[in-house]
Amino acid sequence: MKEQLASVKKEFEAQLKRVSDLSQLEELEQTFFGRKAGAFTNLAKQMKDVAVEQKKAIGEMMNEVRTNITKELEEKRADLQREEMKKIVDIESIDVTQPQLPKEEHGHIHPMAQGLKDMTDAALAMGFLVEDGPELESQYFVFDSLNFPPDHPAREGMDTFYVKDHPELCMRAHVSNMQVRLMRKYSEGGTKPMRAAYPGRVFRNEDIDATHEHTFYQFEALAVSKDINIANLIAVMKEFVSSLYQRDVEIRFRPGYFPFVEPGFELDIKADIGRGEEWIEMAGCGLIHPNVLKEAGYDPNEWQGLAFGMGLNRLIMVKYGIEDIRHFQSGDLRFLKQF
Ligand code: PHE
Repeated sequence: MKEQLASVKKEFEAQLKRVSDLSQLEELEQTFFGRKAGAFTNLAKQMKDVAVEQKKAIGEMMNEVRTNITKELEEKRADLQREEMKKIVDIESIDVTQPQLPKEEHGHIHPMAQGLKDMTDAALAMGFLVEDGPELESQYFVFDSLNFPPDHPAREGMDTFYVKDHPELCMRAHVSNMQVRLMRKYSEGGTKPMRAAYPGRVFRNEDIDATHEHTFYQFEALAVSKDINIANLIAVMKEFVSSLYQRDVEIRFRPGYFPFVEPGFELDIKADIGRGEEWIEMAGCGLIHPNVLKEAGYDPNEWQGLAFGMGLNRLIMVKYGIEDIRHFQSGDLRFLKQF
């Protein structure tokens, strides 16, 4: 009897180790304590056959084994219940104390890309072709074709980057390099009117500060026909500016000198980009100089043209209240994430 009790206890403990959930524990309990066929129950039933003088000792041993087994069962049950609760909590929990769910990361349209798109859309709506052009360019298109005499101080004023060992080349200091290229391309030998817009990057050896960068964007457009005047120039420029800003902005024209227009003007916009209201230089413009029309293949006695070139960075700075032009190329995500 003693041996039987010991082996039942051993067997119980072996099986208990293999139990991994509550229903298995239930089964184990039945196997040992089931009222009809439980291993322990069967032993207890044999008590009546035990010799009288052994009854006390065996009885005590039986109680001890029962107590131990029951205790182990209960401990295991508590462990399993705790584990099961934890699983449920992990799967189903909603942490109401979490202040905000983490935001999904989205890309951002760079304000420059957005501005380029707005201006390009306005150009297309007004019937302008939109073209791209070379950034590394021959001096001929950047200067000579635009009526800059050789050694004229206006050339120096552009702070141009030149290319070592290639005196004929430079990084374009303005997108006006496209004027003669496009007029030649679309005028059909100086016989057809044309309109084109050409945004792009330009490069100048500037002293860099909050309003000057070495690399920036210009948006330029020109139109050639047989009856163009200054009123057209002003109207077209106003249209571009207001389609970018979607509101009225105060502008002013001042006389300005550019060798490729006659007369020439500068356009300023009244705005506050962090230093209080001020007039900010935004664009050069004018009627295309007869020498440039001639260079492009038009007869300047028959044809006139208008042209204007805007500093796109500054236009966008005014639109969004950006106080430093250097933000555009900084790659600083804190700047980009605001748009
Ligand atoms: N290209 C000139 C500049 O960069 C601007 C301009 C364009 C002036 C067209 C007149 C006509 O300053």
